[in-house]
Order: sequence, then C-alpha cells, then structure tokens
Amino acid sequence: MPARAIAPNVSTIPHHIAIVMDGNGRWATKRFLPRVAGHKKGVDALRACVTHCGERGVKVLTVFAFSSENWNRPPEEVSGLMELLAVALSREVPHLKGEGVRIQFVGDRSALSEKVRAGLLQAEAATASNTRLVFNVCFNYGGRWDIAQAAARLAARGEAITEQSIDESMALAHVPDPDLLIRTGGEKRLSNFLLWQAAYAELYFSDKLWPEFDAAALDAAIADYAQRERRFGKTSQQVQPVAKKAA
Ligand code: IPE
Ligand code: IPE
Ligand code: MG
Repeated sequence: MPARAIAPNVSTIPHHIAIVMDGNGRWATKRFLPRVAGHKKGVDALRACVTHCGERGVKVLTVFAFSSENWNRPPEEVSGLMELLAVALSREVPHLKGEGVRIQFVGDRSALSEKVRAGLLQAEAATASNTRLVFNVCFNYGGRWDIAQAAARLAARGEAITEQSIDESMALAHVPDPDLLIRTGGEKRLSNFLLWQAAYAELYFSDKLWPEFDAAALDAAIADYAQRERRFGKTSQQVQPVAKKAA
C-alpha cells in the first residue's frame, strides 16, 4: 500500500470530508421526542449528505456514527442505535448501490452482535465494486482505539514502529487523510474522532444540529474550505500558486 504522507490536496473541493454528526439528541429533545427519534432523523440527513457529496465530486466521506464512549449512554439509547444501524443497513444498501457508493465500516466490531456484524459484511460486499464515493462509517470507533490497534498489530508482527508503518496500519489506511473535518451541533472538540488522521484537516464547526445539516449547509462548509490556505508547515509564499506569486 502506498504511503499516505501528508499530501496537499490543492483542489477547492475536498477529496475527503469527515463529519462528527452531533446534535441528534438535542434536535429530538427540543421537539419533546425521544432521543432515538433524533437519531432516525439523523439517518435521513446522512442519506442526503452522501448523495450531495457524490454530486459535488467528493471522493471520500467518513462519518462518526457511534463512539467507543457512546456505550456509556442509557441502555435504551444504545440498543436503539444498534437497532437503527441494522434497519438502516437493510434499507439503504440498494440506494447506495444505485449511487455508486462503496460503504465500509470502521471500528471495533468485536463488541457488536453477530447479526449486526453479518449485516456490515453484507453491505460492504454488496457495494465493494462501487467507485464513485467511498463512504466510511465509524461505528464503535475511537481515535485512541485506532492508534492502539495499529501499534498492537505492528508489535504482533515484530515490525518497526515508524510514522509510515503506523499510518499503514490505521483503520483508514485505504483512503488519504481528511481534508475537511466538520462537526455539527455547536461543540468544538474532536471527541476521540480521527486523532491521527486529522493532523492537517481543516476544521469547520457548525451550530446546526445534525438533522438540520442539509445540502446548503454542506455547500457552505465546502465554500469555507475553498478559502483556506493549506500550508502544511510551509510559509504562505511557498504555497501560493505561481500566477499569484508573480502578481
Ligand atoms: C450524535 O448526536 C449521534 C451520536 C452520538 C450517536 P447526539 O446523540 O450526541 O446528540 P446530542 O449531542 O445529545 O444533541
Ligand atoms: C461524538 O459525539 C460521537 C458521535 C457523533 C458519534 P458525542 O455527543 O458522543 O460527543 P461528546 O460526548 O459531546 O464529546
Ligand atoms: Mg452529542
């Protein structure tokens, strides 16, 4: 596998967008609905987001759907989320196939039920040949878990620990690092998402709750990204396009 060294993406459309889909619970609570109703609405927002990413030419979308820490929520919310995953999987796969989306799940599957695990494998296999958009769903994922599992794999194989070897053992080794990392719901933190891979991501925070994050909101995030100057440690002058430098 080629090294995924920090490689500047010069396009104004981010190649890889990562999203912390936060605010489902508050969306539901504001409407006197159970929190799970917010998660259901969140699936609708996600479906629209996947479609819009495909239309805008984004090549990789990675979303945070369930964190290692979300097990600490009330049991009825955790079981509601597991159920929602199973239902969404069976319902959405034909739609993903139609849109040329390859779905891949990222995270520790060992804690998931046999039924859910089979569903994940089935969805991955059914969409494996699609190439328009890679859609990574981080489920029972934590950035610290990811770094630890990479290190453990290298240690088990007796391999040297280098930035490159860790990078190649991370759960998202199949895609380049995210260019744009969006968090909805108003909080300004990573909450253990992509700690390694977000080293040079442009961060974008939206106060919109995830169920309200629509195509226009995504376009606003992409437009904001297009204005950023990505320097990767260099000076502004070094990264200016030649035409601008001469001006
Ligand atoms: C994000 O929405 C979805 C998950 C964590 C599964 P939340 O459920 O965290 O929504 P808020 O932050 O409580 O509003
Ligand atoms: C992060 O949101 C996890 C997901 C969106 C899946 P949380 O709502 O769990 O994050 P904290 O607890 O507010 O940091
Ligand atoms: Mg939250």
